[in-house]
Amino acid sequence: MTATTSAAAGAEQALRPHAEEAFAAELGALAAADDRPRPARWKLSPWAVATYLLGGTLPDGTVVTPKYVGPRRIVEVAVTTLATDRALLLLGVPGTAKTWVSEHLAAAISGDSTLLVQGTAGTPEEAIRYGWNYAQLLTHGPSRDALVHSPVMRAMAEGRIARVEELTRIPADVQDSLITILSEKTLPIPELGTETQAVSGFNLIATANDRDRGVNDLSSALRRRFNTVVLPLPASAEDEVEIVSRRVGQIGAGLDLPAAPRGADEIRRVVTVFRELRGGVTEDGRTKVKSPSGTLSTAEAISVVTNGLALAAHFGDGVLRAGDIAAGILGAVVRDPAADRLIWQEYLETVVRERDGWKDFYRACREVSS
Ligand SMILES: Nc1ncnc2c1ncn2[C@@H]1O[C@H](COP(=O)(O)OP(=O)(O)O)[C@@H](O)[C@H]1O
Ligand SMILES: [Mg+2]
Repeated sequence: MTATTSAAAGAEQALRPHAEEAFAAELGALAAADDRPRPARWKLSPWAVATYLLGGTLPDGTVVTPKYVGPRRIVEVAVTTLATDRALLLLGVPGTAKTWVSEHLAAAISGDSTLLVQGTAGTPEEAIRYGWNYAQLLTHGPSRDALVHSPVMRAMAEGRIARVEELTRIPADVQDSLITILSEKTLPIPELGTETQAVSGFNLIATANDRDRGVNDLSSALRRRFNTVVLPLPASAEDEVEIVSRRVGQIGAGLDLPAAPRGADEIRRVVTVFRELRGGVTEDGRTKVKSPSGTLSTAEAISVVTNGLALAAHFGDGVLRAGDIAAGILGAVVRDPAADRLIWQEYLETVVRERDGWKDFYRACREVSS
């Protein structure tokens, strides 16, 4: 019976495996090759964690794929912070891989990226501290057994990394419950006259969106507990093309779509359009363009290309073409139907139309815009 159950469970693959599962082979090879000192309860040394994020080749020939494409120093500072008594705050505009980096850091350091609190305007204190199992509480009164541990509390007790997503969206008074946790490394449980103390290995990664600043800005008391690392937009078009191709390849493999390289020119095109509209100027620096209201992040470029590939696979010949990405681009650019549409049309007529080799793309965009 047991065998059948586990075989059946094994056959079902999670739609999106956690980083520690998806990259278990790389993490295992890194652990085997890693002879540097590891902080208490870390699965890898800081050097190996940074290599996991940035990629590299191990002495035994194992290739570690880059997860984060960007300045090496940023990753080194982030990893180092987690080995100190300060927590890590990843800050940046949407789509700069804050969530992605946080997941991979937790996976590499603790082997577990699931101790996660999603911050929203409605996040209650119980999500960060603890709650109660009311059935237990009513029949047996307050006791340790009646406690419902939050992911942060579990991370403290087990010496792992906890993650808090979108910290600045959480109401200020709820945010402040993190202060004692981060400064005293303890979580008092006044109802039981006791506490949960963090064991070594515990730390916390929070992410926050630049554009939310001011919504529930961090109190200075809380901010002091964090070392802030700002994740930038990709520095060059080449970097951004690489990020998009790599992610699209991974996502496409999960969806049984053809591998990305067929249609690499279109990826380049999506990235160019996004960068020009974001930056307000064409790549050659000659023509000024207006920026639309959307973020046009790398993450959105990834989803435009993935959708395009799915279109090409299901309704075309599998090769990504201009017609497969035009609608996706339009959807990403035109968020505000009035102002953004004008900006897009102006960009189409003044930049896209004149560009060598972009006729097919111009036509495809005209078709979906009308
Ligand atoms: N510099 C980068 N290196 C690698 N991947 C990136 C980079 N920037 C963006 N991405 C990709 O963008 C996607 C979205 O990132 P995400 O972590 O959700 O953004 P954020 O949390 O900052 O809004 C991820 O799939 C990630 O792979
Ligand atoms: Mg995020």
